Amino acid sequence: MTQDLAPTVRPSADARAHTDGWWRSAVIYQVYVRSFADSDGDGIGDLRGIRERLPYLAGLGVDALWLTPFYASPQADGGYDVADYRAVDPLFGQLSDADDLVREAHRLGLRVIVDIVPNHTSDQHAWFRAALADRPGGTARERYHFRPGKGERGQLPPNDWESVFGGPAWTRTTGPDGESGEWYLHLFAPEQPDLNWDNAEVRAEFDSVLRFWLDLGVDGFRIDVAHGMVKAAGLPDIGLSEQAKLIGAQVLPFFDQDGVHEIHRAWRQLLDSYDGQRIGVAEAWAPTSERLALYVRPDELHQAFNFQFLTCDWGAAPMRQVIDESLAATRSVGAPTTWVLSNHDVVRHATRYGAGDEELGLRRARAAALLMLALPGSAYVYQGEELGLPEVVDLPDEVRQDPAFFRGDGQDGTRDGCRVPLPWSGEAAPYGFGPGGSWLPQPGRWRELSVEAQSGDPRSTLELYRSALALRGELPGLGDGEMVWLDDAPEGVLAFSRPGFVCTLNTLGAEVALPVPGRPVLSSAALEFAGGTVRIPSDTCVWWAV
Ligand code: BGC
Repeated sequence: MTQDLAPTVRPSADARAHTDGWWRSAVIYQVYVRSFADSDGDGIGDLRGIRERLPYLAGLGVDALWLTPFYASPQADGGYDVADYRAVDPLFGQLSDADDLVREAHRLGLRVIVDIVPNHTSDQHAWFRAALADRPGGTARERYHFRPGKGERGQLPPNDWESVFGGPAWTRTTGPDGESGEWYLHLFAPEQPDLNWDNAEVRAEFDSVLRFWLDLGVDGFRIDVAHGMVKAAGLPDIGLSEQAKLIGAQVLPFFDQDGVHEIHRAWRQLLDSYDGQRIGVAEAWAPTSERLALYVRPDELHQAFNFQFLTCDWGAAPMRQVIDESLAATRSVGAPTTWVLSNHDVVRHATRYGAGDEELGLRRARAAALLMLALPGSAYVYQGEELGLPEVVDLPDEVRQDPAFFRGDGQDGTRDGCRVPLPWSGEAAPYGFGPGGSWLPQPGRWRELSVEAQSGDPRSTLELYRSALALRGELPGLGDGEMVWLDDAPEGVLAFSRPGFVCTLNTLGAEVALPVPGRPVLSSAALEFAGGTVRIPSDTCVWWAV
């Protein structure tokens, strides 16, 4: 018998109701604002577009959304260069749109997390302009990292740090008289000068910015570069020439310094002073799971993206190892693990897992989704992964906008290919993204991947996600809690149980036959049953009720 496991259960309002520590089990959907939905036809997604599509997210079954930066910004790095932390960029709408969006989301039972970018400002921020206008040693310069250059005429950068986007992490200033002056630090693009978190004004200003958005009603913050705000004292040379990676585990004097934890502890107190369980989520690239767990100690942040899981190779052994290490590390501090497979900075996992074979990549991506959503803790879904979108690998150079692309080989790849606007409906581009075009071109075959094309098709990736999220809300064993490996699984197969539930993942390139462990409730590919045996195809994940 072949069995397709179509959607079976829809969440009831009660099952999805947020209980104590809502983030411990939450599934949070990442909205990359410029690529989600465009309401005004300029080809760029906006806040009103998101508001209009909120019913889709509520129907998908997620608990919350995370909005990437929509603040006033020259957009040198997709909005991660903020010129005014309290204003909405006109590209995305106005403050009242943010307010409306938060209210409407809450009405639909969705929480809203916004991005906060505390490591650096835009070079167009009033503070940085004042710093440039100030003299060396002036108070306006103390909010950033200004230093004299090395060499006889100060012509060399103050140290050997490289920017994550490629090239030196220092840019020399030019005074009003045209003379070269001090250098300033930017771990990212030159348009993103790093703030000096030893400066009391910087700390006070961010407290005020956090309060501004909390007062507006947001449920928390995704903290950009949460591992970078504090630099090693004296800004010491690294002494190695290897390019620093944003997505990496190198030990560096500007990432994962112990001093960052004091800032997160202070922010936790601020969050706790508000009602409604507002949360902080660390975007922290730490060398090990243990170092990452420090960010989610009881008096620090609530979540930290598990990038060890994201970067793990496909396969039972490496995946089991990462899962074990992550759970052990977060358990040691009493925090949940926060699983993630994709975001706006990495190659989409449907492509990553395929290594050149799209069909294989999608198969594994579907299986990985069921694995992730069955593991203990919370999970993030990056917009479009529920549609099985692949990375767009053939964008013409002239449409690219990622600063990393223009600054050499700073990143492992370029990041525009995962930021292509979503296909919603229709036969022609921009596939319902908005009434105009789309800021990056969508491939023609995305017509078949649109929300409309996949809705109601039980074999589609969208319906797989809808079913998985619905079941996650219904099955009490899922979400936060414990899991136990079932060690009778054959090599290449991961099997674990949770109360009333078993998950089986065949990571092999061939099918495996196993004794049926329970009642199948969802599978990423069709199963075959014979007697008490189930044949699980290659690269397939199955959920069982037991
Ligand atoms: C964001 C990137 C951004 C960088 C600098 C990252 O962690 O996710 O998109 O380029 O921070 O702000």
